[in-house]
Amino acid sequence: MELATALKAQTVQNRVREVGINLNYWYPAAWADRLKANQVQAVTVWQQPIALYRDTSGQAHALENACPHKGIELHRGEVTQDRLVCPYHGWEFAPTGECVKIPYFPPEQKLPCAQARSYPTTERYGIVWVFPGDPALASGAKLPEVPEYDDPDCLLIPITGLFKSHFSISNENTMDVFHGFLHKNLQGWFDPVLLHLQQADSSVRAQYRVSYRGKFTQFLGLSTDADGITTRIVEIHYQYPHYHSTMEGVSSLYLMRLPVGPSETRSFSLLFLPKVRLPRWLQAMIKPILVPLVRRWLFMPFLEQDLEMMESEQQSYQRSPSRRYTEVNPAILALQRVIVRQYEQFVQQSSQLESSQLEQGLLEMPLSAVGSDVKLHESSSLHEFP
Ligand code: FES
Ligand SMILES: [Fe+2]
Repeated sequence: MELATALKAQTVQNRVREVGINLNYWYPAAWADRLKANQVQAVTVWQQPIALYRDTSGQAHALENACPHKGIELHRGEVTQDRLVCPYHGWEFAPTGECVKIPYFPPEQKLPCAQARSYPTTERYGIVWVFPGDPALASGAKLPEVPEYDDPDCLLIPITGLFKSHFSISNENTMDVFHGFLHKNLQGWFDPVLLHLQQADSSVRAQYRVSYRGKFTQFLGLSTDADGITTRIVEIHYQYPHYHSTMEGVSSLYLMRLPVGPSETRSFSLLFLPKVRLPRWLQAMIKPILVPLVRRWLFMPFLEQDLEMMESEQQSYQRSPSRRYTEVNPAILALQRVIVRQYEQFVQQSSQLESSQLEQGLLEMPLSAVGSDVKLHESSSLHEFP
């Protein structure tokens, strides 16, 4: 649906800072090269502690990070073949989460029924992904498409972000092209105009026009006039729960979001510079130097300024959760609607699943119980939200 682009004031509903996530999507859990064979890592996907491990053959698996015996965190354990072994009494868990060995049991003795929850995992774009929702939906859920990843001519710069803020705050920062003011000392963009805005059930697509000036522009060879000013189109596509943003002819940036909890979000970002078309042998040689340089000098200064704003916004929210704020950018309001609706859909979907599982006596774990620690306001509805 095409939306109006006029800037118009609306009061932000606090609910967008209170909602949980729709768990029925793939979320990035770790950089694949940081999880070596036989290693375990502790990760958290929306308050669910997970032990992510890579088995001896190189396959990644994810188990609930609590031993079914006494709750010891399984990431403290070790990997044997495809099993994760708890450090306390040495119980061994298969990738399905089933306890398959207790070292002090005689071989003929039947094992207790002790099961850790297991999560579907997959690996793509140098990232290990986890599906924290209903496992039956994992195969039908799509990962974001990143065509540049397989283009050997595109220079890839992976960037990790950690924000002490609710994921809605981090996501609004990306959609919010009107904050060029913040980056003025970095010669960021200016004169932003929202040209087009579309919203669907799980996505928001915004097109902005922005101008750039200064050394950065010259460095990238973008200047189109004597003053070194260039005007570009920036496309921002939020496809719940991740982002893709492009700056015409300059960069393509994928922000894979991991909401850790109500006030913590991680980002696994893939920045591609398609203009850096160098022969592969030369890329391989200069990459180890160029990638950290671009990350440190071109990207991080912007991110650090954004971080300060996001965390300040979160702190103010926590100090006075009932205080209302005013937004004027319809792209931000559209984004908030998608975030809230996705959560509502998830709650609805999980309660339907729970009641059908209860009827069949199959329920192991109520999915809605891990959706959020914040209660939903019964009286609110989609129509009340702007
Ligand atoms: S607590 Fe894990 S084996 Fe005992
Ligand atoms: Fe920014």
